[in-house]
Amino acid sequence: MSQHPTYLLDRAKIEGAHTLAVAQKHGAYEALRKILKEGITYAQVIQVVKDSGLRGRGGAGFPTGMKWSFMPDPAKDPRPRYLAVNADESEPGTCKDRVLMEQDPHGFIEGCLVAAYAIRAQAVYIYVRGEYRHPYNRVFQALAEARKAGLVGKRILGSDFDCEVWMHKGAGAYICGEETGLMESLEGKRGHPRPKPPFPAMFGLWGQPTTVNNVETVFNAPFIVNRGAAWFQSMGTKTSTGNLLVGVSGHVNRPGVYELPFGVSCREIVEDVCGGVWKGKRLKGFFPGGSSTGVLPASFLDTKLEHDAIKATGSMLGTAAMIVMDEDTCMVRAHEIIARFYEHESCGQCSQCREGTQWLHQIFRRIENGEGRHEDIDMLVTLSQGMAPGKTICALSDAAAIPTLAVVKHFRSEFQEHVEKGACPHLPAGTRRPVLAGHGAAH
Ligand SMILES: Cc1cc2nc3c(=O)[nH]c(=O)nc-3n(C[C@H](O)[C@H](O)[C@H](O)COP(=O)(O)O)c2cc1C
Ligand code: SF4
Repeated sequence: MSQHPTYLLDRAKIEGAHTLAVAQKHGAYEALRKILKEGITYAQVIQVVKDSGLRGRGGAGFPTGMKWSFMPDPAKDPRPRYLAVNADESEPGTCKDRVLMEQDPHGFIEGCLVAAYAIRAQAVYIYVRGEYRHPYNRVFQALAEARKAGLVGKRILGSDFDCEVWMHKGAGAYICGEETGLMESLEGKRGHPRPKPPFPAMFGLWGQPTTVNNVETVFNAPFIVNRGAAWFQSMGTKTSTGNLLVGVSGHVNRPGVYELPFGVSCREIVEDVCGGVWKGKRLKGFFPGGSSTGVLPASFLDTKLEHDAIKATGSMLGTAAMIVMDEDTCMVRAHEIIARFYEHESCGQCSQCREGTQWLHQIFRRIENGEGRHEDIDMLVTLSQGMAPGKTICALSDAAAIPTLAVVKHFRSEFQEHVEKGACPHLPAGTRRPVLAGHGAAH
């Protein structure tokens, strides 16, 4: 793959970049200084982010500048307002925010402050995945340093901009990454998503105007302020601008988190960036953006990794967490595991999701165990159609249904083989996989 401009991970690669001294030497807080010293208005910050075409990196790809502009005008609505930063990162396959928090925590804090300035938030709440102890500690320590240096808190850098930054640890629930579940959890309640409307910009944390953004999204903001919208648009494609962090896991020689421009092909990622499928095997399929984005067979490998091209395949870019599966992977087993995850993580408020995720898991399991019937395959489809899209309070139900629809569409023959053989064709004759332990195993 040819060389391409980078910025997201440049500082992260420098020894000691998690400390304020090193981070500042390499450009951290320059955008914040520029805004405050040059008197750049919040409206100008929103405009440059709008012009840049930055889209959210938390999964849905919503335009960030537009989201910020939904916050009410403080002259008409003087309520306190907040920024909630989503560092829950629980989608299976996704591990990119961790890298930013661990290796460039000051870049991340600056991103939070620039976003908070744009929406005129007086406080930022960073909601960190409970298992992320090291990233949490890194950001916590960086915050202490930044606070001491007058970069966080009252009268930041001597200006009239006040902004406090608080951190909160989750307790291992995927649903707390959904923006309204996250806010409920921050308020000390169960992480049960709220029906929308009202949207967070009008009724967010403690009922006040709130914007929820992903870690990588806010991380981009200082670069855009410093280098401009045209620079940002010069990378990627027309509708997916800038670089993004692509986390590749599964059966490749070099898994990892890579900074790549939107529009790079999935083939370049697997073959060039990640050194190809491991053990000299052939590719069977891949999830382009995490377990909730539908699986694609190897024939889609030339698809460009950007919102529109991936959408055209019927899948989604999601969090650009590519999960690569070699020719020996049992697609039924892989989806049994995924279905089990969604069953476990459903908060249970909506019947389609609560019951549907249980049934999906149960049907996948019986097909995998050689106890499936031909009609079970269509039942997976009918069930999923009743669960998505947009039929429930939040998109977790879609997240379980979409991969099911995709795997049956692209790999139906594998399901039929399981049913006809009365066993998993990927296992030696007469053997069975162990029942997955934990929640759901009893159904
Ligand atoms: C079940 C579920 C889990 C989610 N988990 C995360 C997560 O861990 N991190 C994240 O940034 N967004 C997650 N999202 C998306 C958020 O609801 C929200 O769209 C995102 O944080 C907005 O940020 P962005 O506009 O910067 O992308 C999740 C959504 C759903 C439905
Ligand atoms: S879709 Fe599922 S996870 Fe989301 S609110 Fe409904 S039951 Fe809860």
